Amino acid sequence: MTAPRFLRLLCLLLVFALVHHLSAESGQAAWLRYAPVENQPADVWLPHSIVLLDHSLVAQSAASELQRGLRGMLGREVPVTDVPRSEDAFVLVTVTEAQKYFPWLTPASMGGDGFWLKALRQRGRSQVLIIGANSRGVLYGTFALLRRIAQQQDLSHLDDREVPSAPIRWVDQWDNPDGSIERGYAGRSVFFNQGHVRTDLTRAAEYARLLASVGINGCNVNNVNAAPDVLSSSSLRELARIADAFRPWGVRLALSVSMASPQTIGHLSTFDPLDPQVAAWWRSKADEIYSLIPDFAGFTVKADSEGQLGPSHYGRSPADAANTLARALRPHGGIVLYRTFVYNHHLDWRDPKADRARAAYDIFHPLDGRFDSNVVLQIKHGPIDFQTREPVSPLLGALEHTSEAMEVQVTQEYTGQQRHLCFLVPMWKEVLDFDLHADRAGTPVKDLIAGKTFHRPLGGMVAVANVGLDPNWLGHPLAMANLYGFARLAWDPDLSAQQIAEEWTRLTFGNDPQVVRTITAMQLASWHIYESYTGPLGAGTMTDILGSHYGPGIESAERNGWGQWFRADHQGIGMDRTVATGTGYIGQYHRPVAAMYESLKTCPDNLLLFMHHVPYTEKLHSGQTVIQHIFDTHYQGAEDAAHLVQQWQTLKGRVDEERYAEVLKRLTYQAGHAIVWRDAICEWFQRTSGIADEKGRVGHHPGRIEAESMQLDGYTPVNVTPWETASGGKAVACNRTSGCSASFQFQGNAGRYALAAQYFDLNTGVAHFRLYLNGKLMDAWAADDTLPSSKMDGNTSTRHITGPLPLAPGDTIRIEGLPGGGDVAGLDDVEVYRE
Ligand code: GCU
Repeated sequence: MTAPRFLRLLCLLLVFALVHHLSAESGQAAWLRYAPVENQPADVWLPHSIVLLDHSLVAQSAASELQRGLRGMLGREVPVTDVPRSEDAFVLVTVTEAQKYFPWLTPASMGGDGFWLKALRQRGRSQVLIIGANSRGVLYGTFALLRRIAQQQDLSHLDDREVPSAPIRWVDQWDNPDGSIERGYAGRSVFFNQGHVRTDLTRAAEYARLLASVGINGCNVNNVNAAPDVLSSSSLRELARIADAFRPWGVRLALSVSMASPQTIGHLSTFDPLDPQVAAWWRSKADEIYSLIPDFAGFTVKADSEGQLGPSHYGRSPADAANTLARALRPHGGIVLYRTFVYNHHLDWRDPKADRARAAYDIFHPLDGRFDSNVVLQIKHGPIDFQTREPVSPLLGALEHTSEAMEVQVTQEYTGQQRHLCFLVPMWKEVLDFDLHADRAGTPVKDLIAGKTFHRPLGGMVAVANVGLDPNWLGHPLAMANLYGFARLAWDPDLSAQQIAEEWTRLTFGNDPQVVRTITAMQLASWHIYESYTGPLGAGTMTDILGSHYGPGIESAERNGWGQWFRADHQGIGMDRTVATGTGYIGQYHRPVAAMYESLKTCPDNLLLFMHHVPYTEKLHSGQTVIQHIFDTHYQGAEDAAHLVQQWQTLKGRVDEERYAEVLKRLTYQAGHAIVWRDAICEWFQRTSGIADEKGRVGHHPGRIEAESMQLDGYTPVNVTPWETASGGKAVACNRTSGCSASFQFQGNAGRYALAAQYFDLNTGVAHFRLYLNGKLMDAWAADDTLPSSKMDGNTSTRHITGPLPLAPGDTIRIEGLPGGGDVAGLDDVEVYRE
């Protein structure tokens, strides 16, 4: 071959390699991409066959997964055999079998679902043993090995034993039979459609594989607000197909059930859990379920909560209800996860002693010891409801004779709904490491839920996950780190947030050090950033709590029965939950914790407004006043959100174009929405407290031109509700089908400027916008997102940036809005700024 031809070929190969390396990815493979691994240190000696000594369905999945992973990452075809004595093999075996073949190995006690990975090298031959405590352990060990290969770890001295922290490692899906998902932000259900289980369960099986890869062993597939029909015979037959799809991956199916089922579908005259007929109905239902689904995991129960019927209807306790179900499941090995999210949502807000945060402890603590051993109380990590910041639920430290599992939320209901980046592992870590002093000192939550303290039989973690049919499962490609991180923590709560973020990034985006560094840093900062432009000092997320739980809607939390109050007036803010003068909630903690929260001197700043009512001028430990802290953190938070965009932009060309563009789009949106949050909260607090921002930023926006003060053609000014979600409380809307326009003249110095148009993107239709400079079309965009509101408010306010463009004094900028469907092409303002 001539030199030029050779060079041309080389170039072609390089281009091919690059294109292949960065080829488009939808995110569907999540952390199981098995992308080719360069410089694989283990490649040289890794064995050339797989010996499968466990013939269970689950172990067979392990073997084919190992083949698949090695093929993808190392380009190797590795056959599977069951000839035990091969000296050059991956050996997949349970601990009981292993003792037959490797009697000289002494596998220490491995605990349920655990595994041991052990590399042996003799006479130039190598063996990698994947020894599982059971078949699931074999599968988990295989995935763990593949994870190590993907991260280019040196395996030559591999000798790792892992035992999961607790037996319950479940996800809950809040999917409805019609295919919708309550608080799901990534498309429709992978399980249901139009009242039936989907015919094609490929995605459901893929989901089980993903879950198994990180040690999840149970999945509850239907909404906790359970459809009455779930337990009907025809529905159970369909649900059995989901269990079939899960089974190869060791994921057991669980179901949410309504306590009223004996009446609604059993046609009994009562659902009183202590009525013998009712108990008999549950027993025969359980028998029917197990005849269809022999490995059925159990029931999740939401009762006497947010409109769900429960035992209180008959004056019975949650223990009466839970035990009736537990006794029906017990002969089959099933368990009941009874949720403690039980509270009165018609609380009297005028009563200074009323407090929703007290409810779970007040109801369940007196029942400790009255639950059967196959009942687990499923306790949300905080006493309210997955807010941006909450204290640890005192109930987690209050039970001595009842098993408990902690419920967290992967689906970002109150934390940005996967439109905002919010990596929740650091939050969960704080909770897991928090010492509740339940058994004097040294009882972090992670030990309590693992059943280590007080030696309770069961325990673990459950996450509301709500993945959907969106290709990348959760919508935001970076949000999958929450699902991954939850599972890793449920397995090993001692892993650090940094380790988890790094590991996830390597598996999801590859090992390029800059990519790993940048994404890890973004993830680790993101919860704090989100918190700083939303709910300050433990006051709650300050979102629209009566509707979407998404955009700002500050007063929606106040003066209603839902009890998410923060009691702000012109003098002060915060819930007084002290024992001395407040609701007494703090008294639910053990002494050292209670003492810390009770005193203003020791109460941490980030929970101040959860625990105390204080004047806006109260000094924090940081030395700043409450009000100035609110202003400053919100400005800082919005800046930090903008910085996330810049950080991501440094990765252009280092991650595939598809995910790069998708993440960039979401981060850019987030940066705009962070400004909406910032302004809503700062202006609301400035007005309510009557105290101005000492830095003069709040309410002063140089370069911002209000739409209502532009020259309008067809557009009409409207008041926006709540007022703080639009600049100046007003915006303009277009009700003319032919479209409207708003124009203004640029007054600043000549130069290059960006123009940020703040518009409202309603979910009722698609409006279109065009931006003209001196009559020349410069930009056009569609308001085609599906944000969670049909109104012009904090949910729909969206920023679109044009430019930078060269502007000179007197230039005319005109924005045309064309309504579409019910979207009135609302416009709030345009901000002109130098980049
Ligand atoms: C939140 C959420 C509801 C859900 C409830 C629960 O309140 O908004 O959609 O049903 O939690 O956990 O039961």
